[in-house]
Amino acid sequence: MSPFLLTRTLPEDATDADLRADVLHGLTRTPKVLPPKWFYDARGSELFEEITRLPEYYPTRAEREILIARAPGIAAVTRARTLVELGSGSSEKTRHLLDALPALESYVPVDVSESALTAAASSLLDERPALSVHALIADFTRGLALPGTPGPRLVAFLGGTIGNLLPDERAVFLKSVRSLLAPGDALLMGTDLVKDEATLVAAYDDAQGVTAAFNKNVLSVIDRELGADFDPDDFEHVAVWDREREWIEMRLRARTALTVKIPELDIAVSFEAGEEIRTEVSAKFRQGGVRRELGGAGLELREWWTDGAGRFALSLAVAV
Ligand code: AVJ
Repeated sequence: MSPFLLTRTLPEDATDADLRADVLHGLTRTPKVLPPKWFYDARGSELFEEITRLPEYYPTRAEREILIARAPGIAAVTRARTLVELGSGSSEKTRHLLDALPALESYVPVDVSESALTAAASSLLDERPALSVHALIADFTRGLALPGTPGPRLVAFLGGTIGNLLPDERAVFLKSVRSLLAPGDALLMGTDLVKDEATLVAAYDDAQGVTAAFNKNVLSVIDRELGADFDPDDFEHVAVWDREREWIEMRLRARTALTVKIPELDIAVSFEAGEEIRTEVSAKFRQGGVRRELGGAGLELREWWTDGAGRFALSLAVAV
């Protein structure tokens, strides 16, 4: 039996306190905002999995194509003995990497979801019984401490999730990743790329309405966790491309003027007809910007790989 360790760096009640603070802060300001991390309860995670299979949502397929084609290149450049995966979820994408990394001894999946971590670890250990898995229940935007696993280390941050951070938050995040690495260690990062508006908007406003349900799910989370009386049907799903800032914004737009009670916070939140909550930013990138942002954190871009259609990129950067 190979070792499986699970370390919780988040207090059991951290999620609850964070949700309260985010909802109180975000819904009592103008314009209203909610952070995207609250989409992902069990239902939201299911809806996200469904999104990844939609014809309009190309990023997951594009990234998988690159990972499969470039896994041997990643192994050759990094010679990683430890793979750290931030926001590992089901670890589905990681398999391609694990299969290609012959020197790998240790896998450190990091996620806020304990159930996702234990499920992913047990299926991986069936396939790679010699691998030691040290899962971390942690919020990767909050400064991480890694177990003392052998170097060289490769940190993987896939799926384009970096795009859900605002530019300032990305700078802080990339510096915290750099602080986990020794010179020569590497970061593998997925980024969705700037492209025509119609393709981008369709990816966030699919014909079947799965993304709309995913977006509205955050209201159900607030209803359940904070006793609120949001009716998701009172809101319309909106996806807009901001061409200056080169990001997609998802919003929820009140169909009429309404007031929502949030008993756990002792507040009532009023909406004017047409008023919106910004629920997600999903930034799209260009090579120059990625190179600059990595460089600002002490990471040097070594490889830039895109899918055949040029929709999505994987960057391999080395700590200098
Ligand atoms: C894969 C988490 C980065 O921004 O594309 C999918 C989530 N939001 N559809 C993205 C998402 C709407 C997503 N991430």
